[in-house]
Amino acid sequence: MPNLFLPDRIIRVNQLDSTNSYALQLLKNTNPSGGTVVMALNQTEGRGQQTNAWESESGKNLTISLILRPDFILAQDQFQISMLISLGVSDYLKTYTENVSIKWPNDIYVGDKKIAGILIEQSIMGAHLSHSVCGIGVNVNQGEFTSNAPNPVSLNMLTEKDYQLEHELVKLLAAFEKRYFQTMNEGGKKLEADYLKSMYWMNEEHTFEDEDGEFTGKIVGISEFGQLQVEDEDKDIRTFNFKEISFLR
Ligand code: BTN
Repeated sequence: MPNLFLPDRIIRVNQLDSTNSYALQLLKNTNPSGGTVVMALNQTEGRGQQTNAWESESGKNLTISLILRPDFILAQDQFQISMLISLGVSDYLKTYTENVSIKWPNDIYVGDKKIAGILIEQSIMGAHLSHSVCGIGVNVNQGEFTSNAPNPVSLNMLTEKDYQLEHELVKLLAAFEKRYFQTMNEGGKKLEADYLKSMYWMNEEHTFEDEDGEFTGKIVGISEFGQLQVEDEDKDIRTFNFKEISFLR
């Protein structure tokens, strides 16, 4: 397998605002190769989805951003990036623990707790993806969480072990690399099948909320554009974009 994340493409910084912001600046001011990785021991303004902050105690966790140039992915298939990154994190975590799942679109859970978050910021050039900044925060050694993040957990809390971040970085990057080349060489079929198999609450009856209020339903799949499909009690399939649905209970 060719290498994507070569050792000399890993930029290690002790402290910065956000690895995603740093990577976006690199793209604006320089011409970083696909496979460039920014890793920080501490982020002063770590960003989460929507307007949330990302809580990560200094030196305890993996907070990284990958710069990818996946020009083999069509703009309309951009959810493949989300799937490959989510599956990479999930493949990595499965080497340590069971019950890993992906809460659509890309929160990584162990049981009912969130262990990793992903923030993807990408740009399209013509019909293809020109670059993608994939920010990943994996809770590794942090023992307690103080923000109001809902049900966080770390590898340390699950396994009572301490992990060496450098070693974990190499393992995690290898997992992304595998999924990246799988997508490049085989297209998105396997990725999508594995993503569906890994989905949190798949085919289970739960309560959700959309703009019309609460409803009972079960997740039945994702559309070709990565939208969530939920079958309601009338057997109608409702389709959601990100932020249009909340998972209640
Ligand atoms: C979320 O679940 O809300 C997304 C969290 C993403 C956090 C990571 S940590 C590394 C990268 N840099 C950031 O500022 N955010 C992402």
